[in-house]
Amino acid sequence: METAATPARVTMEEITALAKRRGFIFQSSEIYGGINGFWDYGPLGAVLKSNVKRAWWRDTVELRSDVVAFDSAIVMHPLVWKASGHVDAFHDVMIDCKVCKHRFRYDQLPDRSQCPDCGSKGSFTEPRNFNLMMRTWVGPMEDTSSVAYLRPETAQGIFVNFKNIYQTARKRPPFGVAQIGKSFRNEITPGNFTFRLREFEQAELEYFVPDDGKDMGSFAEWVERRKAWYASYGIESERLRFYELSEAERPHYAKAGVDVEYLFPWGWGELESIAHRGTYDLDAHMKLSGKDLRFFDEAGKTHYTPLLIESSAGVDRTVLTFLIDAYERERSVDPNGKETERTVLRFHPQIAPVQVAVFSLARNKPELVERAVGIEAALRTSFRTQYDEGNIGQLYRRQDEIGTPFCVTVDYETLGDASVTVRARDSMQQDRVAGDALQSYLGEKL
Ligand code: GAP
Repeated sequence: METAATPARVTMEEITALAKRRGFIFQSSEIYGGINGFWDYGPLGAVLKSNVKRAWWRDTVELRSDVVAFDSAIVMHPLVWKASGHVDAFHDVMIDCKVCKHRFRYDQLPDRSQCPDCGSKGSFTEPRNFNLMMRTWVGPMEDTSSVAYLRPETAQGIFVNFKNIYQTARKRPPFGVAQIGKSFRNEITPGNFTFRLREFEQAELEYFVPDDGKDMGSFAEWVERRKAWYASYGIESERLRFYELSEAERPHYAKAGVDVEYLFPWGWGELESIAHRGTYDLDAHMKLSGKDLRFFDEAGKTHYTPLLIESSAGVDRTVLTFLIDAYERERSVDPNGKETERTVLRFHPQIAPVQVAVFSLARNKPELVERAVGIEAALRTSFRTQYDEGNIGQLYRRQDEIGTPFCVTVDYETLGDASVTVRARDSMQQDRVAGDALQSYLGEKL
């Protein structure tokens, strides 16, 4: 479903071009023609992604006393995926064009009379299931006994360790376990830049609660927390929706489900799924492994299987959302009455890869360069900084395009009284700031 009221400010072509030009995201293995569904994060993209993960981790784990950290292996025992249902049921339905051999996801091709690629009529195979798990072999033998899988979600590592975690962390439900890590799915049709990938990162929170009648309240609280999280980092609320899944749309075991969706240039796309999964996951592992994963309540000397509230976000999709949501082409009139246009990424200061850029007004004046380099080095311990030199107009344009909230310029006046010019990305307003006040001036604003 698309909404015409809030048209995208940017096309996918523009955002992909900017991401490449400024070093956010590159096609993986580009010199060999690329590989579909895989992307690399460049110098700025790697920092952007790390900031997004940091923001999630700080708010979900570090600022909460009821959530602990976890980091499980990507390759696990194959029976983990048998128990979870991924071996038997994690598939998409696909069809092939018998003429051009192009493969399509069945649900993405409503009109199957004619191949959209080669134009052949009635050329499709019967629909077949295609398992999305990536396979590998563990050890020196490449046979069926050594088949293993790259995890398609990080969550199962938490479920199979549930007992280890609650016993060693000395936690009792309600409490959560959080993990950020790579997941792999052999998507039939990866695409929309970094939206649908074959290798991606997830930020997952598994929150275990007792079956005491407060579980739906806990579910609603997590939905509200996630709403507040996106809002606190400046994602525009009209482009974000929390779509409540009906009973028919949810898996049979799920008591409630909300998909967090963003209005991308092509329409609404899922960023995160929040689900009440009951005891389904722990039950499945207890059944297949024969091991007791129930929580032992010391006080009441009783065993019980806690209910699970899951919030599972895609890191790459969140990064893409921040890029798209921050993007703006802005027209303004300069002091000489001339109309100018700039591209600006209005990142939240915590998300921006560079927070403060420091410039020397001229690159051939050693005393200016030395002063600017010194200021940048001093600010580096408190902020993410970058030094540059040259034409100020061009430097501002570059920093606007990578979303740097503040630029500090060292000029000839600086040599006399140590003051600098600080220019704000959003208002383009310039302040003259005393040298010894710079750190606190920026600290306050950032
Ligand atoms: N443990 C639950 C789980 O994995 P999911 O809805 O399959 O749920 C959660 O995935 C999130 O992971 C999605 O909302 C999305 O952000 C991200 N994700 C899933 N498949 C992806 C893919 N192929 N490429 C990029 N992100 C993906």
